[in-house]
Amino acid sequence: MRIELDINGAVRELEVEPRTTLLDCLRDQLALTGAHAGCEHGVCGACTVLFDGVAVRSCLMFAVQAQGSAVTTIEGVTPGPGELSVIQDTFCETHGMQCGYCTPAMVLVAHALLADNPEPTRAEIVDAISGNICRCTGYAQIVEAIALAAERMRGANRPKDARK
Ligand code: FES
Ligand code: FES
Repeated sequence: MRIELDINGAVRELEVEPRTTLLDCLRDQLALTGAHAGCEHGVCGACTVLFDGVAVRSCLMFAVQAQGSAVTTIEGVTPGPGELSVIQDTFCETHGMQCGYCTPAMVLVAHALLADNPEPTRAEIVDAISGNICRCTGYAQIVEAIALAAERMRGANRPKDARK
């Protein structure tokens, strides 16, 4: 089937089999390998992407279901080549990653959370990442990274003379 997807801000036309998952389409046809294949049945969250701004598991969707929608992968959140988003930067700063397998998904979940709620409580951050497994169990640093990113992003949005 021929489908048209908005991937990271660029419209792509693709030929896919109806059975192809969005995860396989991203990884195998578009070489967007930041969406990781973990359990491939909806449990671990490693395959998370943003679907029209909402964090979804790409292993549970067929590529054809994404026809006409906007998909953002971890490759699409950087401000420019070689640069990191504020959230990626705070993950580095707080050691919010160890092996890194869960990290793209955690970062995308954080992007979705902070787009919706710029001042989340710790409980709201914990709740937001509760569907994503970190096999290295680095949850405390991941929560810290997201809280720090929220603080920085609020600061960046304040008028210059109101910043501390
Ligand atoms: S690979 Fe999709 S939820 Fe685990
Ligand atoms: S950092 Fe290894 S799985 Fe999360």
